[in-house]
Amino acid sequence: MADGTEQKSSNQMWGGRFASGPSAIMEEINASIGFDKKLYAQDIRGSIAHATMLAAKGIISGEDKDKIIHGLNTIQSEIEAGSFQFSRKLEDIHMNIEARLADLIGPAAGRLHTARSRNDQVALDFRLWVKEELQKTEAMLTALIVAFLDRAEEHADTVMPGFTHLQTAQPVTFGHHCMAYVEMIGRDRARVRHAIEHMDESPIGAAALAGTSYPIDRHMTAKALGFREPTRNSIDTVSDRDFALEFLSIASICATHLSRLAEEIVIWSTPQFGFIRLSDAFSTGSSIMPQKKNPDAAELVRAKTGRINGSLIALLTIMKGLPLAYSKDMQEDKEQVFDSAESLELAIAAMTGMVRDLEVRADKMREAAGSGYSTATDLADWLVREAGLPFREAHHATGHAVAMAEQKGCDLGDLSLEDLQSINPAITAGIFDVLSVEASVASRTSFGGTAPSEVRKQIAWWRGKN
Ligand code: ARG
Repeated sequence: MADGTEQKSSNQMWGGRFASGPSAIMEEINASIGFDKKLYAQDIRGSIAHATMLAAKGIISGEDKDKIIHGLNTIQSEIEAGSFQFSRKLEDIHMNIEARLADLIGPAAGRLHTARSRNDQVALDFRLWVKEELQKTEAMLTALIVAFLDRAEEHADTVMPGFTHLQTAQPVTFGHHCMAYVEMIGRDRARVRHAIEHMDESPIGAAALAGTSYPIDRHMTAKALGFREPTRNSIDTVSDRDFALEFLSIASICATHLSRLAEEIVIWSTPQFGFIRLSDAFSTGSSIMPQKKNPDAAELVRAKTGRINGSLIALLTIMKGLPLAYSKDMQEDKEQVFDSAESLELAIAAMTGMVRDLEVRADKMREAAGSGYSTATDLADWLVREAGLPFREAHHATGHAVAMAEQKGCDLGDLSLEDLQSINPAITAGIFDVLSVEASVASRTSFGGTAPSEVRKQIAWWRGKN
């Protein structure tokens, strides 16, 4: 410099991590090939549909189209054989494939990108990927539902304590508890199906954002790619990532369900509860404490939920400030979805395995169901039904009975008739029929209730839906 001082190069200012100058940093922040190579099959499918349409509309020649398709098929084989050289200099999967196509077929490769932009191309590839992932998720959720239905059928009569506030509330059956999860997973599956329908529109042909002056046929490409119809607004098409957000929100809700189940499995498998025993396949031992059998798989399912929820918040935050239409911010959509998809698949698979394998300890459940005055409501209901007491009064009298049992250190069913009559003289020996947990459970025949007969009806209903 004129004053004799040497100007520091900008990368020296930015620090030691980036030794090779601003263009290298640009390459590093810009490139997505490290993760979007996952979209290679969707990219090739999309390009084949696009080239076929261009030829059908006379925009490129049939000869060029054939060359393009042949070249793309070769590239797919190279990628699948592991011989394809991915280059970070070429940024992303779209440019990697197009550059290789030029190597393979020469100038005809340059015609593929007619009437198309990477903006509609990436919207297409990613949407195809998410749609396929949702179809896979749907099948996996069905497998989990079936695993629960099988266990529910087996344990329609197995009595366990039902909880509120994790305090013993009323006796229920394990089958009924399993069916609660069938409802939750069934809603997840319905959300998946709805999302597939929702996103079933083809983005290709929106081009950069404004559409194109070439006489393309977007209905033709939509049909070829298995979409119901093309999207209706080219600006929205290249700036929309609702399908990814929907995937993540569905995944978050589903993971939340799996996490609650994981929590129950962790609690139930403690020696203190002892309601279930996990199979060796889904638990681990301790390196120091030989007596331990840890529910690691359940704990990891619970933890995956944190990752998946995090991805939803990340993508919502990425999208929230973006003006229409495409901005490069949107390139950050993929890792969130890929990571969540992998986590969710693992979580569903692990849960399905655990549910199928877990050993139910009916004796421990029965024992716990019978303690904690779980049939107090049945006593109150009996007083209403048989002695004509208003419910509030019956509730009060039952409170006295619970206090008496507590004082005597026994259960409600162990109180003598005289004890009970001292609380309310209208009580007869018939009361003992409702104080057992089996009688309590069998009496709850209201629609959706815990009576084994009712649970079996709900199982049959769900079997018809699978
Ligand atoms: N790799 C980019 C992405 O994932 C592709 C689209 C690039 N478009 C652009 N106008 N720079 O979003």
